[in-house]
Amino acid sequence: MSNYHIKHLEEYFQVYRKSVREPENFWGEVAEEHFLWRKKWDNVLQWDFTKPEIKWFEGAKLNITENCIDRHLRTRGDKTAIIWEPNSPEEEALHITYKELHERVCKFANVLKSKGIEKGDRVCIYLPMIPELAVSVLACARIGAIHSVVFAGFSSTALSTRINDADCKMVITADGSFRGSKTIDLKGIVDEALEDCPSIESVLVAKRIASDISIKEGRDEWLQPLLDAADANCEPEIVDAEDPLFILYTSGSTGKPKGMVHTSGGYMVYTAYTFKNIFQYKEDDVYWCTADIGWITGHSYIVYGPLANGATTVMFEGVPSYPDFGRFWEIVDKHKVNQFYTAPTAIRALAKNNLDFVTKHDLSSLKVLGSVGEPINEEAWHWYNDNVGKSRCPIVDTWWQTETGGIMISPIPYATPTIPTYATLPLPGIQPALMDENAKEIKGNLVDGRLCIKFPWPSIARTIWGNHERYKDTYFSAYENMYFTGDGALRDAVGYYRITGRVDDVVIVSGHNLGTAPIEDAINEHPAVAESAIVGYPHDVKGNALYGFVILKEVGETRDRENLRKEINQQITEHIGPIAKLDKIQFVSGLPKTRSGKIMRRILRKIASNDLSNLGDTSTLLNPDVVDEVIKEKID
Ligand code: WT7
Repeated sequence: MSNYHIKHLEEYFQVYRKSVREPENFWGEVAEEHFLWRKKWDNVLQWDFTKPEIKWFEGAKLNITENCIDRHLRTRGDKTAIIWEPNSPEEEALHITYKELHERVCKFANVLKSKGIEKGDRVCIYLPMIPELAVSVLACARIGAIHSVVFAGFSSTALSTRINDADCKMVITADGSFRGSKTIDLKGIVDEALEDCPSIESVLVAKRIASDISIKEGRDEWLQPLLDAADANCEPEIVDAEDPLFILYTSGSTGKPKGMVHTSGGYMVYTAYTFKNIFQYKEDDVYWCTADIGWITGHSYIVYGPLANGATTVMFEGVPSYPDFGRFWEIVDKHKVNQFYTAPTAIRALAKNNLDFVTKHDLSSLKVLGSVGEPINEEAWHWYNDNVGKSRCPIVDTWWQTETGGIMISPIPYATPTIPTYATLPLPGIQPALMDENAKEIKGNLVDGRLCIKFPWPSIARTIWGNHERYKDTYFSAYENMYFTGDGALRDAVGYYRITGRVDDVVIVSGHNLGTAPIEDAINEHPAVAESAIVGYPHDVKGNALYGFVILKEVGETRDRENLRKEINQQITEHIGPIAKLDKIQFVSGLPKTRSGKIMRRILRKIASNDLSNLGDTSTLLNPDVVDEVIKEKID
């Protein structure tokens, strides 16, 4: 039996049983046999969910880039580590070998050092999907600096909030980015953000679109000349297993984003372990995850997990619809991709287009198809299975979160029989629990409840940057001694899990996790707006879309409603980014509230979803009349 590489179902059950009965032996063996440690740990695990405090491999010393790069140099130096596929098919793809990656990362790390970045400093990375993004992430890790990647679709306000929250010393960005037929002025967005960021000492600018940018003397510098002059060797900084590796923000139920902190040792072990098993990666395979490195999926399954396994990982700069809807399949064909990992929203968008876009490309290299980010509906699952996988590639529906660091519930391809819409079984080390309304665990099968995890796994986030209380409140207070995920789930007759969706005020739109509170905060800053409530409703491509109920300050406000709608969405774009725009905006005179003044979002969700059959008891509301008015003027 191999703990590290599970190949069939019986083996999965054996390994799983061991991981639950003897978690410390289990993870200790995986860690010892498959990674490079400069010093071994004193304890595999110490934990207390009441504090909460979780430590894996305490006392161990390592550098994750040594595991992701250096240790492959002898056997895989000339193997391609990263295939970079540009936005436009006219531009040539880049194949970066492990040797070249080593050199690039070392040079970049030396540049960081020359700019005064030291172990523990925070570096904000605001880059499009160009090689510099993966390289700068690894360069930070090389010297023990903490990277905070901000998705380059976020607005300047969202960027400055994140820079200030983590007190970043440096921003790494580009002059601009290509996305489909558009170019985006990234440096301009950074300049705007930095008007408000006193902690930033320097800005490094990668050249991508060759546009004229403003250079602020003493702060901004082009990256390339610095790299050209840098030494190609940089000894890795040896860090503690529990030293922070990165911060990554996720939205939550208040306006402020949560900076989830992941540490080095456990994160490395778990992302590498899950990558190997969930994609059944073999030495000469080419693996492609279409996510952006700005999200956790990209951190764990474009960069760290694949590279820790010495894999070839594809990084794609563009979008699925440019120059046409066949772009994904053209890339699969061109690079002979074996494992392909994407989001249901992309599948649904592609499924709306002519099948020729798929059938004209040779997809016979594919062996495993992955799905992540939101529940995959049956129709999308079948389209993916029939047309992309030609019914011969298992689909792994992988459930996890920014906070979990790695995949938690997922089939293991060629081992776990799959069923559409089911994430199936917990991975080794993962102990799920379903909880009822009285905070009691629901045992047995054919049940549903709120999804919790009862035991720590190596890549769980350790805290929220600068706010441990919030970490405790958000994840460890709802249920005693449990990590609460915020999701609902059901367990079927054989013990398979199906994730049913968020049970809090987070809405997953096109696979992006959006807290409704920050969007409401943004809208409420519009001078004409008195109050607002945002809810999600089902949408056939995005999974969910956002519906806003907005109260204006002046009753009988005479301004053009269409213009106001545009301004409100503009406000959201400026504060958060275009991904958080509302599809529907209804102006209302009031919002249904409880007697204690809380907005009854449950009712608004039902109205927005056209599900008026069972609104529940509205008589306890402070203002029951408002419900009829809202229904009458609902936008279809
Ligand atoms: C939320 C986490 C995990 C990386 C991308 C999203 C939803 C994620 C699935 C899935 C059903 C899923 C959950 C989760 N989600 N994967 N396979 N089936 N729902 O990370 O932005 O932190 O969002 O995404 O609601 O809680 P995230």
